[in-house]
Amino acid sequence: MDTQEALKTRRSIRAFTKEVPDRETIRECLEAATWAPSATNQQPWEFIVLTGVELKQVCDLIEERFAEDLGDIDPFGNLPDVCRERQQEIMTTLMQIAHEEGIDGNEIFERSLRFFDAPVGVYFVTYKRNDNQYAVSVAAAIENFLLAARARGLGTCWLTVTVVCREALKKYLGLPEDKELAGGVALGYPDMTSPFNTFPRTREPVDACTFWKGFT
Ligand SMILES: Cc1cc2nc3c(=O)[nH]c(=O)nc-3n(C[C@H](O)[C@H](O)[C@H](O)COP(=O)(O)O)c2cc1C
Repeated sequence: MDTQEALKTRRSIRAFTKEVPDRETIRECLEAATWAPSATNQQPWEFIVLTGVELKQVCDLIEERFAEDLGDIDPFGNLPDVCRERQQEIMTTLMQIAHEEGIDGNEIFERSLRFFDAPVGVYFVTYKRNDNQYAVSVAAAIENFLLAARARGLGTCWLTVTVVCREALKKYLGLPEDKELAGGVALGYPDMTSPFNTFPRTREPVDACTFWKGFT
C-alpha cells in the first residue's frame, strides 16, 4: 500500500476481530513510530504493548477509576464553536449507529474504555515536560504507528479515554514519576462487518483551512 492510500484509508476502528496480530508485525509498526520526527531527535517515547490478561486488567482498572479520575481532560469544555460542531457530528454519528444496532449509548462509551475490545492495547509513554515539545513529538510517533498498522491491514483507534486515570495507570504499569502516558491506541484486525467501521467520514476542504502567503 502506498503512503497516500494508507493516509486516506486510515480510519478509527471501533470494532475488532479476536485475532491477535503477531508480535513481529506490531514491532514493525512500533519501529515505524520511532522514525517520527522529534524535537532535537530526543525520541522521548517508550511503548507498552498489552494483550490477554494484562490488557484485561488495565481495562478493568480504567472502568473502575474512570468516573472518579477524569484528570486534566475536559473533552467538552471551552471548545471553539467550529470544533464543537465537528465533535458533535462524530458523536451524533456514533450514537445513531449505536441506536440502529440496538446498543445503549453508554455501552459504546464503555467499549471505548475497554479499547473497543481490541486484542491489543498500546500505550505511548513520554516524559513530563512543561512545554508541548514531547507531546507533539509523541503524537507524530503515534500517527506513524497508525499508518504503519493500516498499511499492514491492521486497524487502530487512538483513545484519550484510555489515559484519563493516568496516575492509577502509571502506578499499575510501574512508571516512574518523571514519565507520563501520552496516548493509548487500540490495535487489531478491523471487523469490517461493523457499521462503526464503515460510516462515511468527513473533512473540511483543505482550502477552507489553508492561508497562502507570498504566493502569486
Ligand atoms: C488525541 C485523540 C484522542 C482520541 N480519543 C478518542 C476517544 O476517546 N474515543 C474515540 O472513539 N475516538 C477517539 N479518537 C478518534 C477520533 O474520534 C477520530 O480520529 C476522529 O473522529 C476522525 O476520524 P478518523 O480517525 O476515522 O479519521 C481520538 C483521536 C485523537 C487524535
